[in-house]
Amino acid sequence: MFFASVARSMARAPRLLQPVSSGRLPGRYVSHQEGLPPLPVPPLPQTLERYVLALQPIVSPEELAHTRDLVRDFLKPGGVGERLQKGLERRARKHENWLSDWWLKTAYLEYRLPVVVHSSPGVVLPKQDFQDRQGQLRFAAKLIEGALDFKTMIDNETLPVEYLGGKPLCMNQYYQILSSCRIPGPKRDSVVNYARGKKPSTHITVVHNFQFFELDVYSSDGSPLTTDQIFLQLEKIWNTSLQTNKEPIGILTTNHRNSWAKAYNNLIKDKTNKESVRSIEKSIFTICLDAPMPRVSDDIYRSRVAAQMLHGGGSRWNSGNRWFDKTLQFIVAEDGSCGLVYEHAPSEGPPIVAMLDHIVEYTKKPEMVRSPMVPLPMPKKLRFNITPEIKNDIEKAKQNLNIMVQDLDISAIVFHQFGKNFPKSQKISPDAFIQMALQLAYYRMYNEACATYESASLRMFRLGRTDTIRSASVDSLKFVQAMDDSGKQEQEKVELLRRATQAHRAYTDMAIRGDAIDRHLLGLKLQAIEDLVSMPELFMDTSFAVAMHFNLSTSQVPAKTDCVMCFGPVVPDGYGVCYNPMDDHINFAISAFNSCAETNAARMAHYLEKALLDMRLLLQSNPRSKL
Ligand code: COA
Repeated sequence: MFFASVARSMARAPRLLQPVSSGRLPGRYVSHQEGLPPLPVPPLPQTLERYVLALQPIVSPEELAHTRDLVRDFLKPGGVGERLQKGLERRARKHENWLSDWWLKTAYLEYRLPVVVHSSPGVVLPKQDFQDRQGQLRFAAKLIEGALDFKTMIDNETLPVEYLGGKPLCMNQYYQILSSCRIPGPKRDSVVNYARGKKPSTHITVVHNFQFFELDVYSSDGSPLTTDQIFLQLEKIWNTSLQTNKEPIGILTTNHRNSWAKAYNNLIKDKTNKESVRSIEKSIFTICLDAPMPRVSDDIYRSRVAAQMLHGGGSRWNSGNRWFDKTLQFIVAEDGSCGLVYEHAPSEGPPIVAMLDHIVEYTKKPEMVRSPMVPLPMPKKLRFNITPEIKNDIEKAKQNLNIMVQDLDISAIVFHQFGKNFPKSQKISPDAFIQMALQLAYYRMYNEACATYESASLRMFRLGRTDTIRSASVDSLKFVQAMDDSGKQEQEKVELLRRATQAHRAYTDMAIRGDAIDRHLLGLKLQAIEDLVSMPELFMDTSFAVAMHFNLSTSQVPAKTDCVMCFGPVVPDGYGVCYNPMDDHINFAISAFNSCAETNAARMAHYLEKALLDMRLLLQSNPRSKL
């Protein structure tokens, strides 16, 4: 999605993502990381030429002509462009990844909107078939055991290296997602990581009825607790948190980051509160045992769960049953709704979902019969002293959150008619096919193309995170304009569709090789700020504002599990679209804001389904000659 960050290597002194103490680093991990190439700085003329091309479908001819003049100026020998480019190249020589710290700061840590809806993605898992507390706790216990099993692979460095296009990927994000937490700051947040060091974390946080508990998940001999043991511990937690009239302290984490930073400092003035907050921050992850949400019909069930994962449903429901700064929070509700929400700064979706795939598989394993267990101590309840000032902060946070909850319009759907097998059978990239369907849907709704963001992985490079695939292209516009043009021959439409998908795939290849334009342009802009030169006109231009206003913010997050990731739009009048293409169906989650009269998630979902079907029909009605 739009925001992502780049974690600093654990091997060098990190500044923004801070391991709390510098423990021994996994040797195999370090040697793998060191073998990865550094992120290149693309050639300046190449980026600017591609920038102008990317503007063509989304700005007016007059705006484009003006931008061309600015580009010419920027590129003058000895001019500002050359100077900034040299600065970037110098930076690239000095840093492990020239972009990583900048990106982490600008995309996340200095981003002041609440993490809820605006930054943290959720994942909707298939509904589990339990209907009561026993089932809920047993599933939660199994899930915790599965997560600890994954943690063992990270700790022992047995996690297989991932590949994209035959190239090994940076695995750093996996080392950042456990035992970590974002901490609010007055102007900039930070992320702490307690995974390594002399005393790595051995507990998780469990939250039920807005009450937080510290649950140690390792025995004294260092082995992880078994499902049965965890289950009994969860039962104890449940039985001591039956009251539902507690202050939803976790709701503080949903607030605007500046307000939360102030409230945080106020909260931790009290010693007990500070200890409780530290325990949550240090924990390996959080398990949220949610109360059942209002029942809804089957056709909107997924959308309701997506909302529950993104924001918890509001202060009356489960939003206080979270600590949204925690990197990883699994959610298991009594009614079988399950999933997670994660704080985006340390990682992109794919590592999170890869972990989830492992955990879901683990929960399906039959349980082993075990010998009688030694009794375990009662999990520690994390206490909070609520002063009138803290109470007031909670009330304000509740109000703001409830407005956000009302404003989020989300539609999670399953497109049943076909999955990635169909475009593959047509020798078309499934991702490109879906992106072109999104272009067609948007064009049919608004009669124009818009700046479109698709995340592309930069993990082929050390500490790489993402760049942008600009899905609205000259070729996509030609295709969507032709599609409903009765004056065009079917064969021509097919050719335009194929060309548009090929162009998209070519952009994808360019992006994952580190040759896309967005991060380079961001780097040049930040270099100008760092060098204290006046902001080049290129970045003050209307075209630049249009190009950065992503009405469509999209991402493919593929998973083996039949789940879908979801996230909010990145502009007030935009859509957030995430999808998981399975072989024979596609899971989509589409979000918008109710406060924008022009957008509507269900309507976009409808147009998207129609676009996918129309594109299939077009290809099937006009088969390629076998020759
Ligand atoms: N004909 C037949 N098959 C094709 C094809 C063609 N022309 N083009 C691609 N395929 C196949 C691929 O081989 C692949 O096969 P597989 O299912 O056996 O693996 C499959 O179709 C999918 O390929 P494609 O749809 O082109 O997408 P991709 O898997 O290469 O993914 C991106 C594209 C952009 C999503 C990926 O490169 C990426 O960057 N992912 C990271 C996203 C991310 O970080 N998101 C962050 C969210 S927080």
